[in-house]
Amino acid sequence: MKVRDCQVNPPPNAGFPATATPPFPAFLASDWEEAWAPYDEMTYQAVLDHLRPEDRVLDIGAGDLRLALRMVRRTAHVHALELHAKLIPSPLSLPANLSVVIGDARALPFPPDVTVGVLLMRHCRHFAHYVEKLQAVGCRRLLTNARWGMDVEEIDLSVPAQPFESLAMGWYGCRCGAVGFVPGAPEALTSELEARFHEVASCPQCASVRASREHPGYPFRRSEEAAHPIPAERSRTVSPALPTGRYSL
Ligand SMILES: C[S@@+](CC[C@H](N)C(=O)[O-])C[C@H]1O[C@@H](n2cnc3c(N)ncnc32)[C@H](O)[C@@H]1O
Repeated sequence: MKVRDCQVNPPPNAGFPATATPPFPAFLASDWEEAWAPYDEMTYQAVLDHLRPEDRVLDIGAGDLRLALRMVRRTAHVHALELHAKLIPSPLSLPANLSVVIGDARALPFPPDVTVGVLLMRHCRHFAHYVEKLQAVGCRRLLTNARWGMDVEEIDLSVPAQPFESLAMGWYGCRCGAVGFVPGAPEALTSELEARFHEVASCPQCASVRASREHPGYPFRRSEEAAHPIPAERSRTVSPALPTGRYSL
């Protein structure tokens, strides 16, 4: 990775002096979620390897479009959705099969033609919400590092997840975004069981995910567009697939 690729947009309250004494200003989880940082080549390659020529991709939190611009070469269409207008390179000439929308993925409607969602966001706190929105538009696959924090996994959204209670022992990932291991008797732990992964719903962490969604601040925290308005001469109506989106650059 090149040094210039390592730059991170720090969370807005990250600039406290080095001499500061406790209690330090809090780094909110939401600050990390909205921070931009690119991923390594292996992560992007893992996503690209799962794409099909007929795919219509929704890239949720597309950053500076570095992955989106590679995905368009392998797929029918990429919708790139990014909160921070300042990240989008300018001037930008878009390939015909790439649409870029600046806005909040939690609130914007998802396009109805999406076959695969891409969510590279290790600090994502809205995993369950994005899964629900993708399923609502009939999207059948999700490529993401949001649950495990590192590795990219493909989740088959068309297959119902098994109830958490039915899992006697083993690794699981839940549709709320939680992952974990249900322990059991040591003698029951086989190498096959250790290597197996279970897609579950209604795990013990679901309640806290639900509670955080009922937080008064959800789903909006602040308007990025107000802070970084797109100059009028560069803005025009968004692609027809996202009628209520703001801009396509
Ligand atoms: C870790 S970066 C990854 C960027 C890009 N996916 C990549 O791999 O190069 C996560 C991105 O998600 C964006 N993001 C976070 N929350 C978002 C939201 N609610 N709507 C749209 N974008 C969001 C951030 O602004 C940031 O650019």
